[in-house]
Amino acid sequence: MKTVEQIKEPILNEMEFFEQKFKASMVSSVPLLNRITHYIVRRKGKQMRPMFVFLVAKMVSNGDFKERTYRGAAIIELIHTATLVHDDVVDDSNRRRGFFSLNALWKNKIAVLVGDYLLSKGLLLSIDNDDFDILKHISVAVREMSEGELLQIEKARQLNITEEVYFDIIKKKTATLIAACTAIGAASVNSEAREVEKMRLFGELIGIAFQIKDDLFDYTDDKIGKPTGIDIKEQKMTLPLIYTLNHVSKKDRKWLINSVKNHNKDKKRVKEVIAFVKQHGGIEYTIEKMKEYQHKALKILKDYQDSPYKRSLITMVNYVIEREK
Ligand code: IPE
Ligand code: IPE
Ligand code: MG
Ligand code: MG
Repeated sequence: MKTVEQIKEPILNEMEFFEQKFKASMVSSVPLLNRITHYIVRRKGKQMRPMFVFLVAKMVSNGDFKERTYRGAAIIELIHTATLVHDDVVDDSNRRRGFFSLNALWKNKIAVLVGDYLLSKGLLLSIDNDDFDILKHISVAVREMSEGELLQIEKARQLNITEEVYFDIIKKKTATLIAACTAIGAASVNSEAREVEKMRLFGELIGIAFQIKDDLFDYTDDKIGKPTGIDIKEQKMTLPLIYTLNHVSKKDRKWLINSVKNHNKDKKRVKEVIAFVKQHGGIEYTIEKMKEYQHKALKILKDYQDSPYKRSLITMVNYVIEREK
């Protein structure tokens, strides 16, 4: 059995039901919007966030489940989809999930509006059901994601990012939403505040490892369904490059900065930078850091007794860093 199927095994029915809910949650009376959301639903992603919601809910409550848990998962996936639609506008990226991005097909104007629509549908799904505790987790995540994306742009312009700032950016733009998944999973089955906080931290650690993995993909030629090698083009400095900058001679450092600053659209030069980072241990260092977060996350699970849900979560944490897309 493939890893993802293995992870999904204890939540197969929930995932199926979730898909129906998710699809229904996007319906609109505007034909153009329906055409676009139909396109989105057909090109679905890995759906790792709903999986986290369900597995955590079931692990902390020994298999219990609530209607609220479904809504929590649908809200998260709506918000996630909205941020990807906006992210591809921001990053000027024309591919997503192995096909064209919305901005590539319908242009930025429409992609921005569709992103806002999905965001509002997510928020309303909470409000209409009085899930205010869930709404709070979601709203924090949305604020942090916007801050993270803007901090990233600011640092890309200044080209002076440190490791500390890098971790701050990825925590905000990616880890808080995964932290919201695991916190909402626990909160949806009425866990106590301490347990919700513990699960939130669990998700945050996974989320950091998740984004480091995503940044590593950019240094490969792997077929992952979206472009690789575009971070440097966008002057986005991620951990492999940050590490390398801080561990080479002044002269090499100057060459690297100059490449990112003035030659970032020159494909040959970008390839040289990528090769340089690889030669100077940037990738190895980044993998080590990613594993640190993986292990911190796994450590939290040690407090829970064995169950199919816990076992799936362990496999999933490992999958986050071993995945091929
Ligand atoms: C992509 O997330 C955005 C990041 C935070 C790196 P996923 O890799 O979970 O995207 P899909 O939903 O599977 O396409
Ligand atoms: C992740 O950012 C998307 C958000 C957290 C909004 P990236 O720009 O690094 O993600 P991909 O690689 O395009 O999916
Ligand atoms: Mg981005
Ligand atoms: Mg992007």
